[in-house]
Amino acid sequence: MVQALLTVENLHTEFRRAEDVIYAVNGVSFTVAPGETLGIVGESGSGKSVSVLSVLGLLRGTGRVTQGTARFGSTDLLKLKRRQLEDIRGRDIGVIFQDPMTSLNPTMRIGDQIMEAMLTHHFVGRKAAYNRSIELLEEVGIPDPQTRFRNYPFEFSGGMRQRVMIAMAVACEPQLLIADEPTTALDVTVQMQVLSLLQKLRETRRMSVVIITHDFGVATNFCDRIMVMYAGKVMESAPLEEFLKRPAHPYSVGLKSSIIEVGQTNRVLLPIPGTTQQLTEPPRSCPFVDRCTMAQDACRETLPQLRQLGGADHWVACLRAEEVVRHAG
Ligand SMILES: Nc1ncnc2c1ncn2[C@@H]1O[C@H](COP(=O)(O)OP(=O)(O)OP(=O)(O)O)[C@@H](O)[C@H]1O
Ligand code: SF4
Ligand SMILES: [Mg+2]
Repeated sequence: MVQALLTVENLHTEFRRAEDVIYAVNGVSFTVAPGETLGIVGESGSGKSVSVLSVLGLLRGTGRVTQGTARFGSTDLLKLKRRQLEDIRGRDIGVIFQDPMTSLNPTMRIGDQIMEAMLTHHFVGRKAAYNRSIELLEEVGIPDPQTRFRNYPFEFSGGMRQRVMIAMAVACEPQLLIADEPTTALDVTVQMQVLSLLQKLRETRRMSVVIITHDFGVATNFCDRIMVMYAGKVMESAPLEEFLKRPAHPYSVGLKSSIIEVGQTNRVLLPIPGTTQQLTEPPRSCPFVDRCTMAQDACRETLPQLRQLGGADHWVACLRAEEVVRHAG
């Protein structure tokens, strides 16, 4: 079996508030193989962003990882000092966020920011960094890169800024790219262009990618594996084809059937009935129980663990997964 590039195990993250604690991530485990693209889906507040921010050491406020490991190669990212992690982030792991305006420095020329991404990590010298910035701008589809190098972020459209962020994220040839809703802020046509750019870069570089998305069309067109999160836990994880053929968690079945046909413009995951709440206690029973049409008493008494379904590389946290598959099939 191929050695995973990233292995996250039993990750727990909390946010302490004056009066209580929010249990944002509650025992998340997943792996990313070399060259693999993992899509993380799930509705708002399910802990998708906090999971990756925890791994990257980018938690804000009172966020704290309380348990778990995140091995990148042989290094546990969660044990590194701030400086060591900063060294890996941006060099070995590229990161793209939803809103490039908050990630780009408004007072610095675009080209200088791309150069800085390389110079900070001593990836190349100054002259080579300049040449490479021009090449990268060209590669991500910015016309007239020599002139554009000297522009500031406000002189670029949203789509162009996201292209610049992508250029910065891949500047040091990372092995892994982590993208949190990279196209959500863009209009549909630009979304497709940015995604096809990501697809091209992923193929030419054979990078692994973790992409968080609300858009099921993105997940199914772009990813090798789908991981569904709910209440800070992984509900299901399977290779794309297996996931589409045999969804085994009632929440995944609900997500799948809530999707308007691919090809229409709105492919965004619609919430299924019920609401998600901020968890002020760690889940002790199935977190989906109040919204599940298949719930039984046992679902209130135990916390379903992620278990392998059949012989496939298909993992699910539902007591009745086999029946779910039979019903859906
Ligand atoms: N800085 C913070 N302080 C307090 N709570 C937070 C903070 N960031 C996230 N949370 C809480 O952690 C939980 C998980 O949030 P997270 O941002 O991971 O959700 P998400 O799945 O990425 O949702 P979305 O799809 O809306 O981006 C939520 O209950 C959220 O309110
Ligand atoms: S464990 Fe029970 S409540 Fe939870 S998803 Fe499965 S059937 Fe539904
Ligand atoms: Mg998020």
